[in-house]
Amino acid sequence: MCYKPLRCPDTHMKKSFIAVVTIRHLLWCKNLFIIFAISYLSVMLKKKIIIAIDGFSSSGKSTMAKVLAKKIGYAYIDSGAMYRCVTLYCLDNHLIVGDKVDVDKLITLLSDIKITFKVNASTGASETYLNGVNVEHEIRQMRVSEKVSIIAAIPEVRKELVKQQQAMGRDKGIVMDGRDIGTTVFPDAEMKVYVNASPATRARRRFQELCAKGSTSITFDEVLKNVCERDRIDQTREVSPLRRADDAVELDNSNMTPAEQDEWLLNLYNKIIS
Ligand code: DC
Repeated sequence: MCYKPLRCPDTHMKKSFIAVVTIRHLLWCKNLFIIFAISYLSVMLKKKIIIAIDGFSSSGKSTMAKVLAKKIGYAYIDSGAMYRCVTLYCLDNHLIVGDKVDVDKLITLLSDIKITFKVNASTGASETYLNGVNVEHEIRQMRVSEKVSIIAAIPEVRKELVKQQQAMGRDKGIVMDGRDIGTTVFPDAEMKVYVNASPATRARRRFQELCAKGSTSITFDEVLKNVCERDRIDQTREVSPLRRADDAVELDNSNMTPAEQDEWLLNLYNKIIS
């Protein structure tokens, strides 16, 4: 006969009880972990916002927008670059003569203008492509700067570019800078900033930038004139003129260092997101 060793029923029950409790405990922990992970993910996803940074030309808004986007892992879109691309296309295709634009022809050609942004792997900077060609340098030249406000005032151009910009922000997690981002492109953006600085300050920054890039043919007065003229056109055009959105936070960075304005912007973001 084979005898099973006698076990104390009490010990056996205790062991089974501990096993059941341990399994339940583990299941409970697993469920808790899943609930925690789901809520963490949904909070993180929900927390992605749209950041609209508008302001005058050469106010430093692009620089601060880029820095913020990099710090918080958002995409950065320079909407001014898109208007510059259309201007470059018009210049290269002889659609601008003097200050006159062949608007009818431009409208028929708008669908031929493909603008994309790609991150340069070696510099980490977002660069602008026009119909597959890198035009990042070309669109910053004076010949484009001189005409871009005229192109940006054409309602059909604005309508097309605003449509493309809105598509880029569909999934949020985007920092876009321009003139009408907080008022027209993303009127419901969770964070809106309106950047300003005196015309002389902005012209000085632009002049230094051009000199650093090797431009020798332009004087400070010419840059100042261009800045003032662009302010005038941007503020007085009929469609989406440059203005501060009612719910935008204003920043005058005339006396701020780049590091100070970056810190100011990050603090504002942290306040809004928390
Ligand atoms: O930011 P920027 O200087 O590169 O802009 C170039 C021009 O495009 C400027 O004259 C204003 C215009 N612009 C606009 O009308 N709307 C935008 N959202 C962005 C730029």
